[in-house]
Amino acid sequence: MKRIGILTSGGDCPGLNAAIRGVAKTAMLEYGMEVLGFIDGFRGIIDKEYVTINENSLSGILTMGGTILGTSREKPFKKNKSIFKETDKPGNIKKHYKELGLDCLVCIGGNGTLKTANLLSQEGLNIIGLPKTIDNDVWGTDLSFGFDSAVSICTDAIDRLHTTGNSHKRIMVIEVMGHHAGWIALFAGIAGGGDIILVPEIQYDIKKISRYIKDRYSKGKTYSIVVVAEGIERPENKTAGRYIAEQIENYSGYETRETVLGYIQRGGTPTPMDRVLATSFGGHAAKLIAQENYGQMVTMVANQISSIPLSETAGRLKLITKDHYLVERARNLGVCFGDEY
Ligand code: F6P
Repeated sequence: MKRIGILTSGGDCPGLNAAIRGVAKTAMLEYGMEVLGFIDGFRGIIDKEYVTINENSLSGILTMGGTILGTSREKPFKKNKSIFKETDKPGNIKKHYKELGLDCLVCIGGNGTLKTANLLSQEGLNIIGLPKTIDNDVWGTDLSFGFDSAVSICTDAIDRLHTTGNSHKRIMVIEVMGHHAGWIALFAGIAGGGDIILVPEIQYDIKKISRYIKDRYSKGKTYSIVVVAEGIERPENKTAGRYIAEQIENYSGYETRETVLGYIQRGGTPTPMDRVLATSFGGHAAKLIAQENYGQMVTMVANQISSIPLSETAGRLKLITKDHYLVERARNLGVCFGDEY
C-alpha cells in the first residue's frame, strides 16, 4: 500500500480544497493509498506537522475556499542571511519523508512551490506538482486552478463599476492581482467590457491613454473603465491603481476613482470550472503516483489533462505575448492597451 503526503503552498485560492479532495479521494478509493496532509505548506514537512486524511476529513470541502491544510510561503532552499546556524530545511524534509515512509509528496502551488518541488525531485524524492495560482502564470499549462474564480470575482466588480461610473461620468480604475503577469486583467477586462486594459507585458504611455479617453468623451462616452494589472510599471510607493488614477486625472482633467480589489480575488468558493479543473488535476496526480511516474507537474493543454517534467516548468513564467489572440480580439473591439493611440 502506497503512502503519500500532500501540501498546499504559496498564495491561497479557491479550488485548493477541491484539489486536495481530488488527490486524496482518488488515491484512497481507486488505488488504496494512505494519505497524509502536511500543515502550512513546506513548513509542515520541515517540522513533521501533519494530519492523516480520511474520507471524513474531505467531506464538504469541495466548495470551500482556502485550504484545510493551511499554507505558507516557506522556501526551504532559500538561504537566509541570519548569523545563527540555520536549520537544514531540505535535510529535514528528506528525513521526515523517509521516517514517515512516504512513496510520494504532492506539492500544490504556484511558481515558487513548483521550483521547490523540482529541487526536492532532484534530491531524489518522488514528487508530483499541481499548478495552483490565481495569476495563471505557471509555464507549461494553459490553466492553473484559482484563475477562473479570480476572473469571475473581478468581472463582477467591473460590472458594478460600469453603473457607478456611468452615473457620475467618471473614469473608474480597477487594480487586479496577477503578480508579474497580466492574465487576470486581460480576461476580466474583456469579460467586463473594460475600455482600457493595462498589463505588465505591454508598455503603456499615459498620454496615449488620456488621448483615448478624451476621444471617447468627444463621441459621447462620458465614462471609461480602466482595468490595471498590479504588476505594471509604476513608482514603488504607489499601488498601480492609485498611480494610474492620478496620472489620468492629471493628464485628462476628468474625475477619476480607483478600486484595488486585493484579497477578495483569492477568497470564497471556487467556480464550477475551478472545481472541475482542480478535481481533474488531483485525480491525475493520483494516477501518476499509481504509475510511479514521478517528477511531473500535471497540466491542462488544449483541453487535455497531461503532465510535463517539473524541470521543464521550474523557474519559468507564462506571460502574455503581444500577438496573443485575446490581445488582438480586444484591439479589434477598440480596447486600448495604452501603447497605441
Ligand atoms: O500569487 C498570488 C498572489 O495573489 C499575487 O497575485 C499577489 O501579487 C500575491 O499573491 C500577494 O502575495 P501575499 O498573499 O503574500 O500578500
